[in-house]
Amino acid sequence: MTTLKPNAKTFPLNAWYAAAWDHEIQQALFPRTIAGKKIVLFRRKDGQVAALEDACWHRLVPLSKGHLKDDEVTCGYHGLKYNSHGRCTHMPSQETINPSAGVRTFPTHEQHRFVWVWTGDPALADPAKIPDLHWNHDPNWAGDGKVIHVKCDYRLVLDNLMDLTHETFVHSTTIGDDAVAESPFDVHHGEKTATVTRWMRDIVPPPFWGAQLGKPGRVDRWQIIRFEAPCTISIDVGVAPTGTGAPDGDRSQGVNGFVLNTVTPETETTCHYFWAFVRNYKLGEQLLTTKLREGVASIFREDELILEAQQQAIAENPDHVFYNLNIDAGAMWSRRIIDKMIAAETPPSHAAALGSRTAAAQ
Ligand code: FES
Ligand SMILES: [Fe+2]
Repeated sequence: MTTLKPNAKTFPLNAWYAAAWDHEIQQALFPRTIAGKKIVLFRRKDGQVAALEDACWHRLVPLSKGHLKDDEVTCGYHGLKYNSHGRCTHMPSQETINPSAGVRTFPTHEQHRFVWVWTGDPALADPAKIPDLHWNHDPNWAGDGKVIHVKCDYRLVLDNLMDLTHETFVHSTTIGDDAVAESPFDVHHGEKTATVTRWMRDIVPPPFWGAQLGKPGRVDRWQIIRFEAPCTISIDVGVAPTGTGAPDGDRSQGVNGFVLNTVTPETETTCHYFWAFVRNYKLGEQLLTTKLREGVASIFREDELILEAQQQAIAENPDHVFYNLNIDAGAMWSRRIIDKMIAAETPPSHAAALGSRTAAAQ
C-alpha cells in the first residue's frame, strides 16, 4: 500500500531538477520555484546561467521584482545590488558593505536543452548525475516539447507515465488502444532506475501510430518506459509491421519515437512538467515537428485534467490508503527509489517520525 500523507517529504533536495527550457532563460530575471525553493534565474553576458535565492538579504523582497543590469541584480525595494555569485556589491547611502550581505546561489548546468538546478548540498552537484535525455539534442532525432504547470504532486505524473494502461481510457481517441490495457508487461529495476517493457504484437495500430507509419496492415507496437530517479522518464515508443522482426531487435521497417519527461516538483502539490516528443523519421520536416508537438500537448492536456482532479480528491481524503494492482508495479518501484533518496538526506530523528507515519499506513 502507498501513503500520500500531505506532511511527509515528497522530494529529495540532492538532485538536478529541470528548471527551464534553455530558451526560457535570457538576460532577464526569471522566477521559478523548484523543490520548494524560490529561485530567480538569469543568463549572464557570458551565456552562463545564474540562480539566486529569490529573497533579498535586507527585507526578503523577491529579487525577481527588481532589475538586472550588467549581470547584477538590483533589489526593487531599497536598491541593494547583488552579483551573479549572490554577493552584495552595493548598499545605498553607505560606503561599507556588511560582510554577511548576500543570498544563496544554486549550482546550474545546461544539458539536453534544459537548464538544470541543484537544490541540495552544492558539494554534491556533479553534472554527470544529470538524467539522460540526450535524444533532445541528438541530430539523429527531431522533435520539440513544452512545459506545463500541473497542480498535483509530481509523483502523480510519474505514476501516470509508469503505467500506460491509462492510455486505453484517458486517450481513447488518439494513442489509446484496448491492446495496451490487455498486454502483459515486464518490470525491472536497478539502484536508480525502473523499467517497464510492454510489447503488443500483431495489432491494428491506433490512429496516431497508423498515420506515422504510413503503411496499411497490422503492427507490433512497443512501449519501454525507463524511470531515472528522482523524476525523469524516457519512453521508447513505436510500431513496425508485424513479421518484420521488431520484437527481436530489427526496427528498420518501423517508426520510433521517444517521449521525454522530467517532472520538477514545485511544491508538495504542484509541479513543472517538462516534456518533448522526438522521432527518428522525417527528420527535416519542421511542419511535422510542430504538428506533433501540438498533438502531444493536447493528449497531455487529458492527463492534466485527470491528475488535477486526482490531487484534489487526495486533498479531500488525506487518510485514504492506496492499494496497488499489478499495473502499478513500475510506479511502486519509482516511488521506492524516491523514498530511499529522501531517507538518505533526512536526519535520523526526523526520519523516525516519518517512518512511524508510513508504517501506520502499511
Ligand atoms: S528589501 Fe531589498 S533592498 Fe531592502
Ligand atoms: Fe497520458
